[in-house]
Amino acid sequence: MSSFVKNGWYVAAWSHEICRTLLARTILNEQIVFYRREDGQPVALMDRCPHKLAPLSLGELKGDELQCGYHGMTFNCKGQCSHIPGQASIPPNAKVRAFPLFEKYNAVWIWMGEPALADPEKIIDIPHYGDKGWGLVDNQYLYFKSNYLNITDNLVDPAHTTYVHKNTIGGTDGAEVGVKVEQGDDHVLAYRWIKNAAPVPLFEKMGNFKGLTDRWQYYYLHMPSVSYVDFGGIDAGVEPTEENKDRGLRSFSFNFLTPETERTTHYFWLHLRNYHPHDTRVDEEVAELMTLTFNEDLELLTHVQAQQEITGVREYVRLGIDNAPVRIRKMIERLQAAERSDVPAQIAVQTVDA
Ligand code: FES
Ligand SMILES: [Fe+2]
Repeated sequence: MSSFVKNGWYVAAWSHEICRTLLARTILNEQIVFYRREDGQPVALMDRCPHKLAPLSLGELKGDELQCGYHGMTFNCKGQCSHIPGQASIPPNAKVRAFPLFEKYNAVWIWMGEPALADPEKIIDIPHYGDKGWGLVDNQYLYFKSNYLNITDNLVDPAHTTYVHKNTIGGTDGAEVGVKVEQGDDHVLAYRWIKNAAPVPLFEKMGNFKGLTDRWQYYYLHMPSVSYVDFGGIDAGVEPTEENKDRGLRSFSFNFLTPETERTTHYFWLHLRNYHPHDTRVDEEVAELMTLTFNEDLELLTHVQAQQEITGVREYVRLGIDNAPVRIRKMIERLQAAERSDVPAQIAVQTVDA
């Protein structure tokens, strides 16, 4: 059975990737072709001609329409066939599925489930996005050879940073600090404070700390697979209010996980920070450090995925630190069950009325 939740917004691409050149990308096991209309609106169609199943991404754009590269059937941006060479009548099932899209945060979001439920208001809110006092690094992408739920496990797991990221962002002083977990309607949060700790190298470099710091790590997983980490540091002993956190060194690291297949995941990420917001050198340093850090996860999770495939098992032992991952997987299962009961099967697989 698939591990995917269909009724959710997923980042399909960064905005610049979708242009007047056809882009083929697999999302939730569906082959999709993306392009932009002449007025700039993005379009997503099933990348499979209903005639002989040729990928439409091998065809070419004719204005706002897409012409199959095999026999020239042409489809409009709603997926309806508008022209069949040498044939006047168009069969009613000569169409391909079109997917709802919405452009926000310099990304194109796709809705893979029931189109009537595709409400852009459900796209996650990114705090401080566009604020002048916050620096932004975006347009970042990694390709993980791992099921997306192994990555969500990892992204609500502060404990791994000490070991996996010992060469980048990890510090040993948090190793014995416990993690608290909370759950909302559509998210799971794992968090901890590391008090009276020496500033980590990044904070030492970027901040103005005179002595010890209190550091926070809040790992959110917003259903189905948007992760964000609110982390930073303030002078030790300062009251940990939201305002005081903003006065310290603070970052929001957003990771948009878009399953490609059961074994692979598109990993789009952006990073917001409240220090040196207009310094492009700091942008580059953040991009480099986060890329190194996420590649440490990528390498480890590639091995985890391979071991799971060899054994057919996800884990033999469960630890206390698995509290948040277990909650996420249960929420995902509930969302999938709701989709199975609410969405008739013919809608879930509605592609071509063949
Ligand atoms: S396969 Fe597309 S027109 Fe024949
Ligand atoms: Fe990590």
